[in-house]
Amino acid sequence: MSLFKNTIKNWMARAGERIFLGSTLRQVCLVMGGHIYFQTLSAAVQLDLFTQLARKGPLSREAIASMLGIAEKPVRILLLGCSALGLVRRHRDGRYGNTRLADMLLNADHPRNFLAVIRWQHFINYRAMFHFGEALRGNRNVGLDEISGQGATLYERLSANPELEKIFQDAMQTISVQANHLLVESVDFSRFSHVLDVGGGNATNIINLASRNPGLRASVFDWPSVCALATDNIMKAGLEDRLNAVSGNCFSDPFPAGMDCILFCHFMTIWSEVKNRALLRKAYESLPSGGAAMIFNMMQDDTETGPLSAAMGSPYFLTLATGEGMLYTWSEYESWMKEVGFRKIVVQKLIRDHGVIVGIK
Ligand SMILES: C[S@@+](CC[C@H](N)C(=O)[O-])C[C@H]1O[C@@H](n2cnc3c(N)ncnc32)[C@H](O)[C@@H]1O
Repeated sequence: MSLFKNTIKNWMARAGERIFLGSTLRQVCLVMGGHIYFQTLSAAVQLDLFTQLARKGPLSREAIASMLGIAEKPVRILLLGCSALGLVRRHRDGRYGNTRLADMLLNADHPRNFLAVIRWQHFINYRAMFHFGEALRGNRNVGLDEISGQGATLYERLSANPELEKIFQDAMQTISVQANHLLVESVDFSRFSHVLDVGGGNATNIINLASRNPGLRASVFDWPSVCALATDNIMKAGLEDRLNAVSGNCFSDPFPAGMDCILFCHFMTIWSEVKNRALLRKAYESLPSGGAAMIFNMMQDDTETGPLSAAMGSPYFLTLATGEGMLYTWSEYESWMKEVGFRKIVVQKLIRDHGVIVGIK
């Protein structure tokens, strides 16, 4: 006689759960355990697991423990998490190797790796996001208290914190490299003579623009500490005859003269509607007739129901970055451009939830 009761009923319940609730339950688990799953990923990245497995794998659990210099029990827990998340794969012989996803995105030797973004999420955003509920109630960036220093925005605080600033700029560069080529490939920049990249960061974007458009001049306009990083990169690229970095605050300092294209890449998401309209007005006033203001960003659908990238980015801007930004919809940007006077507005939808909106004066 079996020790177990209701065997058939139990089997049917499990099959039903798998068939009808499988993906829903998995989604609920992923959402509820998001903090743990992210820390599983982040810990593995900090231990350099994926790069080491790409170089030396597949390896046994004992070999991984000795390679990482940690005890076997914690390694077992880490490998369990990474396996369940589809980051590593246990082979038939019991050895572990990277999945294809990890081999590309989490391996320092792969040119398209996303490691800098994971470090940014961990060292800058993670603790701050604990305060999202408070930020919603207070309508301000309560999470900024997690970052030491002075200043009302994350960017001001980072400028006094070189270690965190480097983590931030490295992440921005990774995102820029993955996304900003879409802008260069989809817009004909040869019709402009001098591009101003407002909040242009470490110059990855203008270096890309200048490399593909011989004769084009371009300038980054950013905080002094960021301009130092930008200048360094411009020199390394050997493009100092056509590129430079101009220090300034885009709200209180005038834009440099002589620009016929003013770019806002991943920038308007940071600020409130009022400030974005003011920036577009300022761009309009400093452009010559025929000049262009350009917004390049991930966009929120006009239905205000997605995509996921907009749902992820918007809480970050409210809770930490400035307390006033979010990922706005296509139609909001277009209406601001019309309102400040741009005579022609053209829109191009791109992959990775990105798009470009150009206003011609
Ligand atoms: C989200 S990053 C975008 C970087 C780059 N445009 C890109 O697409 O990767 C925002 C940039 O804006 C800069 N920034 C923030 N506040 C600024 C201000 N008031 N004036 C000028 N730059 C600012 C930051 O230092 C940072 O480099």
